[in-house]
Amino acid sequence: MPVRSYIFDAYGTLFDVHAAIARHRDRAGPDAERISDLWRTKQLEYSWTLTSMGRYENFERLTERALDFALTRFGKSDAALRADLLASYQKLDAYADAKETLGLLKKDGFTTGILSNGSPGMLHAAVKNAGLDDMLDHVLSVDSLGFYKPRNEVYALVTKALSTQPGEIVFVSSNRWDIAGAASFGFKPVWINRSKMPDEYPDLKPVAVIDTLAALPALKL
Ligand code: LAC
Repeated sequence: MPVRSYIFDAYGTLFDVHAAIARHRDRAGPDAERISDLWRTKQLEYSWTLTSMGRYENFERLTERALDFALTRFGKSDAALRADLLASYQKLDAYADAKETLGLLKKDGFTTGILSNGSPGMLHAAVKNAGLDDMLDHVLSVDSLGFYKPRNEVYALVTKALSTQPGEIVFVSSNRWDIAGAASFGFKPVWINRSKMPDEYPDLKPVAVIDTLAALPALKL
């Protein structure tokens, strides 16, 4: 099936989730990287456990709870730092190659969009802050469903919004578990493996693996 659209995961794929701690590294102290990693790990864990239980809290709330866990774990009870990290999370930097890549795809006539766990308010703030508004035709959030990736119904938000078949969509994510979900749904998944992680989910493979967003437009998919 010919490709009509490119849909991107948001956090970790277009936006650097470690940009928040990078802005406050001195105040976060020697455990800054470990705090940021644990913040992200717990945020995702909460999304999966709640979804398994049939419960829901929005991603903004999960992001706050995950940060509280990470700060407490590393002994940083600093309310001002907490507030500043959460404010920074609303304005995460986009990866340096995100804007140009989206621009090239749009110039080639493809529909573009985001499909994310993020709450609509967080996503719109991040997109606006990074200046990506004009390059994205759709910003889709799980929030309307009340559960998280990798449930099939989440990926189906894209085929409904775009009135297309899964095989016409390239789904781009740096999260290997999200690539597995996209493959299971029938998208053409492209894994952005920036940190050269080993492969997982052998039965749910990406159609391509690249290490930068910039390499995406040249792929023959
Ligand atoms: C998202 C998370 C999974 O943007 O990174 O959906």
